[in-house]
Amino acid sequence: MESKLKITGGVPLNGTIEAQGAKNAALPVMAAALLLKDGTLRLSRVPDLLDITTMADLLRSLGATVTYHEHGMDIAVPEQISWETPPDLVRKMRASSLVLGPLLARCGRVVMPLPGGCSIGSRPIDLHLKGLARMGASIELVHGSVHATTKGLKGSRIYLDFPSVGATENLIMAAVYAKGETVLENTAREPEILNLMEILRSMGASIEADGTGVVRVQGVQELHDGVSAIIPDRIEACTYILAGAATNGEVTVRGVVPAHIDSLLAKLEEAGASLTIGQDAVTIHPSGRLKGVSLKTLPYPGFPTDLQPQIMALLSMAEGASIIQESVFQSRFLHVSELNKMGAKIDIQGNSSIITGVGELAGADVAATDLRAGAALVIAGLAAKGNTCVRNTGHIRRGYENMVGKLRSLGATIEAVEDEGDDGDSERREKSGLPRHTS
Ligand code: UD1
Repeated sequence: MESKLKITGGVPLNGTIEAQGAKNAALPVMAAALLLKDGTLRLSRVPDLLDITTMADLLRSLGATVTYHEHGMDIAVPEQISWETPPDLVRKMRASSLVLGPLLARCGRVVMPLPGGCSIGSRPIDLHLKGLARMGASIELVHGSVHATTKGLKGSRIYLDFPSVGATENLIMAAVYAKGETVLENTAREPEILNLMEILRSMGASIEADGTGVVRVQGVQELHDGVSAIIPDRIEACTYILAGAATNGEVTVRGVVPAHIDSLLAKLEEAGASLTIGQDAVTIHPSGRLKGVSLKTLPYPGFPTDLQPQIMALLSMAEGASIIQESVFQSRFLHVSELNKMGAKIDIQGNSSIITGVGELAGADVAATDLRAGAALVIAGLAAKGNTCVRNTGHIRRGYENMVGKLRSLGATIEAVEDEGDDGDSERREKSGLPRHTS
């Protein structure tokens, strides 16, 4: 049964929390463990999230042993692994497609269902497949599944039409064992990708990135055991900073890399927020009502699409108008109608949202449509006058470790209760094979 979150808003948050390890770094790094030919990758700072459990189950289904220890997890990969991915697990999470590159490199073969449609726009994997084909894989689509084979991948020059995060990661992993040099151009440059490259290098891969989007990988014969740490989760950290701003509170998030969240900090300062930016901590101070600002989501180092719903919740209460242009995903505005139920005034025009700031939101009964939309509704509920109930919180558990506990430690009035009146959304999705997971 799904749970729902009950929030009594209007309480300024106050206190300090520690950022979790980055979901979007841990997922590709876990997939990269499959490159080991009888070896173990020991990871620390792995967040405790539903998506991580799904990836662990997927790795187990392929033959790996995943065990948790006090500070993280060990992934032991035997010499023989399976190249056939279980459709039910793959459909649960788009990030399952990250095993494509490692499995092809390791087994010369992979069968994987295509990730289905999802609630933040169609998300094809054409760039992943095009790149793998350039490296010499034969790829066929049979009844909605990718069947890829190769007698050995070959280094080649691959230009990505768009700097896709997942395609960059998959192609880097595939190139680790390719013969010769692979040159990837117009790659994504998210910090999570740097984390993946650093961990692969520590295991013996030969990868160079010059910071301009060009990545060079020299194929090697074998990787060795690794011990590494996952970077802090910039999206989680920023969600709590935004919650602090929305409630006019004083919140410190420790264990962050401020350089990774520059685009958000700059926008908050432009909106009139008072911040203290330390070496590995950021504090938002009570700043009163912020001014409206406009922004466009872009690949890193641009403003992250994964913070678009959360900053929209904040800007819906700002003074004056804001425009948010979504350029990474086709339709990532499902949270707008829910925010409007809480009194926000937001109009969607194509890929833009026009926000007319209202002084205050009012508590309401709303539903999370995806992970970050859920986080936005929690921020809105914490700031709103009265009681808010956020349904479909399974989405939130995919990406936020102990969100209720962390918010409570900051003084929020929030509790998770079983949702007797669950609209069956999650169950319907499971049955229809639609992914619940979007980002
Ligand atoms: C990753 C993140 C997700 C984030 C997104 C953009 C993980 C596990 N997830 O998702 O949280 O929102 O980056 O920052 O790291 N596209 C294509 N063809 C492709 C691949 C992508 O058209 O082959 C399009 C997608 O439909 C989307 C855009 O490119 O519109 C960005 O997608 P991509 O960067 O690949 O995102 P993900 O890796 O899926």
